[in-house]
Amino acid sequence: MTQDELKTLVGRAALNYVPLGEVVGVGTGSTVNRFIEALATMKDQIRGAVSSSVASTERLRAIGIRVFDANEVEDLAVYIDGADEIDGRGCMIKGGGAALTREKIVAAQSRRFVCIADDSKRVDMLGKFPLPVEIVPMATQRIVRQFAALGGTARVRLKDGQPLVTDNGQHILDVTGLAIRDPLAFETEVNQWPGVVTVGVFAQQKAAVCLLGTSGGVQVLNF
Ligand code: 5RP
Repeated sequence: MTQDELKTLVGRAALNYVPLGEVVGVGTGSTVNRFIEALATMKDQIRGAVSSSVASTERLRAIGIRVFDANEVEDLAVYIDGADEIDGRGCMIKGGGAALTREKIVAAQSRRFVCIADDSKRVDMLGKFPLPVEIVPMATQRIVRQFAALGGTARVRLKDGQPLVTDNGQHILDVTGLAIRDPLAFETEVNQWPGVVTVGVFAQQKAAVCLLGTSGGVQVLNF
């Protein structure tokens, strides 16, 4: 099976986790796009969605799903999103699509994070995928130096030759060369650096379940 077919497989499998009659948290990315397509088949069975990005909001609205602002709903039963890496405890690196801050907000509002991913995302230790960090631009060089002190190399993510601007009007650093042995401690530390909006390690908001797309079918990992 191709990676795209695996994404379609887990996107469809995630429908089993959608709470009927409720509002569902929806993430961002190519795997989630497959989930949104599948969600169209049951759009009349849910109340709506809270979305983690402008891109997902547009896709949800295009298929006729009502999108609520996160402030309009209290808590969500489920948040369904992809990952760039997921380890054996459900900790993840996210933010390849630059939506990490809103993803963490919606995940924090949800009782259960259901991660959908193809099996190339499963790792023993986080850190091979360049770690996305959303930052306030004026703090860029200071944060680059802080990552260098940890052995990491941080680069500003570009789009069309200019710094990419997130949905929140901020920039993204992608950091290579890190071995994230203790994701919770790492997330807690980096999130305290002045100018960091969100680090793309999801250990506090880790996955409760991962639907992993493999050539043998969907593997369900419970954490
Ligand atoms: C976006 C994300 C995505 O969930 C992550 O990048 C995985 O994306 P894809 O499903 O396209 O591989 O964190 O910010």
